[in-house]
Amino acid sequence: MDRAKLIIGNQTHELDIIKGTEGELAIDITNLRNDTGYITSDTGYKSTGATRSAITFLDGEKGVLRYRGYPIEQLAENSTFLEVAYLIIYGELPSPVELENFTNGITRHTLIHEDMKKFYEGYPEKAHPMGVLASMISALSTFYPDDHNTNLDPEKVDLTIRRLIAKSATIAAWSYRKSQGFPIMYPQNRYSYCANFLHMMFALPTEEYDVNPTVVRALNTILILHADHEQNCSTSTVRIAGSSHASLYAAISSGVCALWGPLHGGANQEVIDMLKKIQAQGGDVKKMVEKAKDKDSDFRLMGFGHRVYKNFDPRAKIIKKVSDELLSELGVDDPLLDIAKSLEEVALNDSYFIDRKLYPNVDFYSGILYRAIGIPTEMFTVMFALGRLPGWIAQWKEMRDNNEPISRPRQIYIGETKRDYVKIGDRG
Ligand code: ACO
Repeated sequence: MDRAKLIIGNQTHELDIIKGTEGELAIDITNLRNDTGYITSDTGYKSTGATRSAITFLDGEKGVLRYRGYPIEQLAENSTFLEVAYLIIYGELPSPVELENFTNGITRHTLIHEDMKKFYEGYPEKAHPMGVLASMISALSTFYPDDHNTNLDPEKVDLTIRRLIAKSATIAAWSYRKSQGFPIMYPQNRYSYCANFLHMMFALPTEEYDVNPTVVRALNTILILHADHEQNCSTSTVRIAGSSHASLYAAISSGVCALWGPLHGGANQEVIDMLKKIQAQGGDVKKMVEKAKDKDSDFRLMGFGHRVYKNFDPRAKIIKKVSDELLSELGVDDPLLDIAKSLEEVALNDSYFIDRKLYPNVDFYSGILYRAIGIPTEMFTVMFALGRLPGWIAQWKEMRDNNEPISRPRQIYIGETKRDYVKIGDRG
């Protein structure tokens, strides 16, 4: 095995080099503190590998994304969200029987306990659906206390996984209905996962919901594209929360909260707000680009840049194509799409963005697609969470199956050194 040498003063320490199946390299520092008294410092974990994972491979320089070895382009073209969910969670594409059982298991658990319905009455009318989703998923643990200490009994874990995927869609759709003052729609077992979600979002109580296969296909694609993305902010949160052996519901709820922020999953909502602002100000995209470049302003071009993709985001390419197709098929003429296109063109030709390798990410076009489907802006990040659910679950499962230790980073303390307490009357 190759070794790395670390020289501190006159001491040389040898460290193992770990090589991944795609040739990725890491220096194993697990015993560094014990052996040397030193820790490493890496705020934001830009050079830290927190785990060894067999779920998702991505190469940010080449714009490659694969789930369990399968290229995202092939899965987006040929698969469904539930099939991809199975692949990500269990490691292999399902046989027809396995897929049928998985799908039926999810379909059978879409109802949520009637008592949970009462919670919706307590939220303020304008409650953000991400807050509702996080708290309702956390609340599921109180309705299924047996799922808590599953001790990785595979059958119980599988049941919790099915409950989570099924009920999260119902919780999400109902949070939208409530925010609009509309009656909730119960799930219909005859529909596919995506069709059922659209039914719960948009059906009128008096009419049969008219399922549009193009919309169902687009929704499947966008959920597939979001299904996992290795050790990002929310996924790391799920693994860290789960590493204390908190329940899967609690770990996922933490992930939803982490996803909410505008630098992560909240960016898709911010993109639309930004495009609307440009529209309201007369459509001057150059002004917005200049503002994003101005170091005196903390404004960033939403939907641009990515921690790992420094060439292009392969998901953005697929989503752009799917949203173009959907818009033309539905005959939607969205002025925000024109603004998005001009903004992209201006930014991609600007040396500030070129030099920093800032390209449109998946969120840049996902909002346009959601708008075309009729999903309101506040629900965008919730849609991201529904898509990311299989990834979070798979990462939690991998972490528990591998018996990973509780996560507990260290720090370099830079505060005051020891000083004595001064009574309040003696302070100046
Ligand atoms: N607009 C303007 N400048 C930007 C942008 C942007 N969107 N993104 C990065 N920069 C600049 C930074 O100011 C910095 O400039 P400097 O070197 O002159 O100081 C340089 O590019 C590098 O930026 P970092 O913040 O170091 O890059 P990092 O990898 O930490 O951040 C991030 C990545 C958070 C995604 C960032 O690009 C960003 O804030 N983008 C906008 C929000 C967004 O779209 N988030 C969605 C991410 S995708 C997802 O979560 C699914």
